[in-house]
Amino acid sequence: MSSIHVTVLRESAVAERRVAATPETVKKFIALGAVVSVEAGAGESASIADAAYAEAGAAIADRASVLGEADIVLSIQGPAPTSLAGIKPGAWLVGNLDPYADRARIEGYAALGIEALAMEFMPRITRAQSMDTLSSQSNLAGYRAVLDAAHEFGRAFPMMMTAAGTIAAARVFVMGVGVAGLQAIATARRLGAQVSATDVRSATKEQIQSLGAKPIFVENVAGIEGEGTGGYASEMSAEYQQAQAELVSSHIAKQDIVITTALIPGKPAPRLITDAQIATMKPGSVIVDLAAEQGGNVEGAVLGEVTERHGVLIVAHRNVPSRLAADASALFSRNLYNFLSAFWSKEAGRPVLPDEDEITRAVRLTQGGRIVNERLQDQPGNA
Ligand code: NAI
Repeated sequence: MSSIHVTVLRESAVAERRVAATPETVKKFIALGAVVSVEAGAGESASIADAAYAEAGAAIADRASVLGEADIVLSIQGPAPTSLAGIKPGAWLVGNLDPYADRARIEGYAALGIEALAMEFMPRITRAQSMDTLSSQSNLAGYRAVLDAAHEFGRAFPMMMTAAGTIAAARVFVMGVGVAGLQAIATARRLGAQVSATDVRSATKEQIQSLGAKPIFVENVAGIEGEGTGGYASEMSAEYQQAQAELVSSHIAKQDIVITTALIPGKPAPRLITDAQIATMKPGSVIVDLAAEQGGNVEGAVLGEVTERHGVLIVAHRNVPSRLAADASALFSRNLYNFLSAFWSKEAGRPVLPDEDEITRAVRLTQGGRIVNERLQDQPGNA
């Protein structure tokens, strides 16, 4: 039996510094019986030298040679199909393939005959928690958002009593309390801020309190239960949105820092803050929009930039997890390893995804030249 060949690509997307394997996961794949090759320079921007991969047992080579041999290609973001020329039909491509964003790219994977496996479609079931790249990366993004806010803010976060007088604690408001929001609350609290938070899912109220922050919630409005499927949010009623906007308006004017993280899977990010609301904030306040890549929670946020509106800074960095490239890579790599190793068949010497498994059905986008994923069937352009 010849060994299965696992290949790690060098990422090419703008602002992408992460890498989909670390020397640790390379060693683990080799221990399972795989041969591993890494595209030269793949780990450079995450502070992992080629030599470290080589020491772990990987071969280092250029893209054409690593791709030609690959049975399983590991990536962070989905590469352009044109950059996969020479890949074997039937090879797997595993990463955050952003299936809703770019239909033509997924069709391109189908045309190459490869099996594209989208990690962000991983179901939120206990068995798959260690494979959940959205959670591992959101957690770091939530942390980083607070540091990015602190960096732009011309004041301190903690209350300080000094000989020259007292400095008040910063007021931080977190909107959207999923994985990123919870970490943002915890981080802002550690820095000594006074923190409040809101979400459409009422289950988050207790979580906010348990982190020592104050919940700000719309009460007594129809359609308040914003829990959709799989623990995600659903879109809210017009009545709710109106009540939420009023509540936020009165609260936001008193805040120094606002961090927004609200997402609805497969839909543009909900608009949570309008330009008129920004105008009520104090000059020097900072808003960090973690949803900027999905269309933004904040009116006027410009993806990839820090802009100023009414004296308020709006921070909308691209790819926030990549700003902590080393840790983000380590966690992402383990998610990929945990996924593939969970399905490893000793007899086959490779991972085998049973067609009927809940995880297979969720993550498999293309197979045998076709788009096969249920969630992509009703999208336009699917022949
Ligand atoms: P997400 O990234 O999809 O959204 C972030 C947050 O924004 C969510 O809490 C959502 O309710 C909130 N939101 C959406 N629309 C909003 C609006 N209009 N106003 C205010 N907030 C709004 O969510 P994430 O971080 O992926 O987590 C969603 C849930 O899934 C959480 O309960 C999390 O604990 C759970 N989860 C479960 C896992 C499992 O394996 N069982 C793994 C990871 C997360």
